[in-house]
Amino acid sequence: MLSVIVDGLWREGDKSLAVRLVAENGEALPAWQPGAHVDVHLPCGVVRQYSLTGACEDESYLICVGRESASRGGSRYVHETLRPGQKLAISTPRNLFPLHQAERVLLLAAGIGITPLYAMALQLKAAGTAFTLHYYVRNRESAAFARELSRCDGCIIHTTSPRTALAEHLPTAELGLHAWVCGPAGFMEKVREVAAARGWDDTHLHSEAFQPVAPAAGGETGEIFTVKLASTGERWPVPADKTIAQVLQENGVDVPLSCEMGICGACLTPVIDGVVDHRDSVQSEAEKGATDQQVALCCSRSHSGELVIAL
Ligand code: FES
Repeated sequence: MLSVIVDGLWREGDKSLAVRLVAENGEALPAWQPGAHVDVHLPCGVVRQYSLTGACEDESYLICVGRESASRGGSRYVHETLRPGQKLAISTPRNLFPLHQAERVLLLAAGIGITPLYAMALQLKAAGTAFTLHYYVRNRESAAFARELSRCDGCIIHTTSPRTALAEHLPTAELGLHAWVCGPAGFMEKVREVAAARGWDDTHLHSEAFQPVAPAAGGETGEIFTVKLASTGERWPVPADKTIAQVLQENGVDVPLSCEMGICGACLTPVIDGVVDHRDSVQSEAEKGATDQQVALCCSRSHSGELVIAL
């Protein structure tokens, strides 16, 4: 855990607040790469994941928080209560959305999804990699980092709906072309739909969810199964109304948790045996189908009667 101070707080567009964080001890904060996020422990008792943005060479961290009308507490606290000089605890950066080597890059952002992609654009520019950033906003006033983006070649802010504009902005799949996508669930769904129609496959389209996947029909948590620890052989039933993480904690097992909604990756644990019923939105479909799988203990369940995990 890192102890940081809110060093600056300013408006980015009419819907977001940028927050600069510096280390309390005055040292440089740990290095990070675009796509990384930190868990921010807010004094109102909630922990929220925010992407780091801006230039990754900076010694401070920059996050940008959109004002959500249906805030569950985090965005409201940042917008209404957080003040410069305030002390916060944050995790070290974790990157589940890394920028890989690619010949050409397409960045597609909607709303507050700009935060990781703005950092990617700066890095691609510095590395001399060919890229285009399409940033969709409802109106120009709501765009974050608008001034910086307008000075950056290849970054275009659109006020047209991505529903219609994507058909023009998302080309057919090409070797060497990779896309990174971030925004609300509906936007990402639309991108995936257009991309699939244009021949893109999962390995070239990288996305990060900011919202948990909608629960399965009826919202039920599923059948009862057993979770077993590979290290000790201890096993416990996981009832339909509890998560694997809750059952483990009740039995004294330390489980790293953060979002508890399947969107941050803190609780991902390797699976030794069993068939996971994946319910997180952190992992890609390829990762969920790989031989070496990980299970999100906070939300996923099991299709097999027993799940053996590497704890
Ligand atoms: S705690 Fe965030 S994915 Fe499980």
